[in-house]
Amino acid sequence: MTRTRTQVGIVGAGPAGLTLGHLLQLEGIDTVILEDRSRDHIEARIRAGVIEQAIVDLLVEAGAGERLQREGLVHHGIELQFAGERHRIPLSDLAGGRAIVIYGQTEIVKDLIRLRLEAGCPLHFDVEDVSVHGLDTERPLIRYRREGRDEELECEVIAGCDGYHGVCRPSIPAGVLFEFSREYPFGWLGILAEVAPSSDELVYAHHERGFALSSLRSPELSRLYVQCSPDEDLAEWPDERIWDELQTRLGLEGWTLAEGPILERGVTGMRSYVCEPMRYRRLFLAGDAAHIVPPTGAKGLNLALHDVRVLAEALADWSRSGSTAGLDAYSDTCLRRVWQAEHFSWWMTQMLHRPEDHDPFDVRLQLSQLRYVTSSDAAARSLAENYVGLEMV
Ligand code: APR
Ligand code: PHB
Repeated sequence: MTRTRTQVGIVGAGPAGLTLGHLLQLEGIDTVILEDRSRDHIEARIRAGVIEQAIVDLLVEAGAGERLQREGLVHHGIELQFAGERHRIPLSDLAGGRAIVIYGQTEIVKDLIRLRLEAGCPLHFDVEDVSVHGLDTERPLIRYRREGRDEELECEVIAGCDGYHGVCRPSIPAGVLFEFSREYPFGWLGILAEVAPSSDELVYAHHERGFALSSLRSPELSRLYVQCSPDEDLAEWPDERIWDELQTRLGLEGWTLAEGPILERGVTGMRSYVCEPMRYRRLFLAGDAAHIVPPTGAKGLNLALHDVRVLAEALADWSRSGSTAGLDAYSDTCLRRVWQAEHFSWWMTQMLHRPEDHDPFDVRLQLSQLRYVTSSDAAARSLAENYVGLEMV
C-alpha cells in the first residue's frame, strides 16, 4: 500500500470537483482529484448547458473562462409556449441586466481538465474501489486502487464531489443526515441533433401531450427534450417518433422545427433531493453529492459551482488564518441557495409537465400560472431573477 498526503482530497472530477481543484490551486492549496471513470467517458458525457451570469464571472475571474467567453452564446430571454402561443420573458430587462450563457457542461469539464493537467496538478482517472475512512479523525483517508496498486491518500479535508451515486455521502454515519426528496412521475428524453436551432432562444413548451424544450449547444447543434416516463425504453423511440413528438409539442402556426441527424440520445428521470447538513466533520459534500434538482430550472450545474466557490473561500480562509468560521457556515450558506433553487425547479416542473393523470383541475391551474407569469411584470420578474440566478452571497 502506497501512502501519500494532500491538503484536500477531492472525490469526483465532475464540474464540482474540477472547479474546486482549480479554485484551491489559485489559493496555493494542494489537492488530489480521484475519478473512477475514464477521461474519455467524462469528456463525452452530454449534460446541461445553461450557465448563470455569476457562474460565468466566477470561471472567467478564475482564469477558466477563456473558451467559454469566446464560444458561449449569451441569451437575454427565454420563451414560454402554451395554448398555441409563445410568450417571451425578457430575462435581462427584468433581472438587472443579467443574462445566461449557453455553453455545454461537458465543455467546462474539458477546459478544467486541460488547465489542471497543464498545471501538473494530480488528477487520476480510472481509479477503482474508492472508499473514505477515519472521518472522525483529524486525518481522514481515501483508499483506492490505481493501475493495479492499492493507494491511500491522507487528507486534512475530503471534498465529496462524487455526484448523487457517489461513495462519500453514504459513508457518513447513520443518523447524521436528514434527507428530503421527491420523485416525479416523468422523465426527459433528450437528443443532441446536428441541425441549426430553429429558434433564437430556449422554448419551454406546455402541451397536452407533455412538456417539450428546445435548446441548443451552438449555431450548428440543437438540444431538444420531450417529457416521457422516468423508465422510458429508448428502443421504442425511433428517430421518426422523436421528431413527430417534438414537432407536435413545439409546433406553431407558420413555424417548423428543422430536423437533422441525432448524435446522442438518453432518458433522465426527474428528482428533487437535498441532504442536510452538507458536511460531516472533515468531509464536505458539494454539487450533486448533496442535492439534485429536476432540470426544468437549469440549476444543477450552477448550484454545484456555487457550493465549491463557498467551500474554496472557506478552506482558503482556514488555511490562511486558522479560522473555521467559513467552514462552519458552509452548509447553512449553501443550503439557503439550494432550497431556493429546489423551489424554483419544482415550481417550473409542476407548471410545465403533463400531470400523470392529466387531471383537468391541475391543467387549468397550470395554464392560469402560465398566463400570470407571462402577463404580470411582477410574476415574470420573479421567474427571471431565479432563472438568471440570485446574487452570489
Ligand atoms: N469515486 C470517484 N469518482 C466518482 C465516484 C467514486 N466512487 N462516484 C462517482 N464519481 C464521479 C463521477 O464519475 C462523476 O465524474 O464523480 C463525478 C460527479 O460529477 P457529476 O455527476 O457531474 O456531479 P457534480 O460535479 O456535482 O456536477 C453537478 O452535473 O450531473 C450534473 O445535473 C448535474 O449539472 C449538474 C452537475
Ligand atoms: C439544455 O440545454 O440541456 C437545457 C436547457 C434548459 C434546461 C435544461 C437543459 O432547463
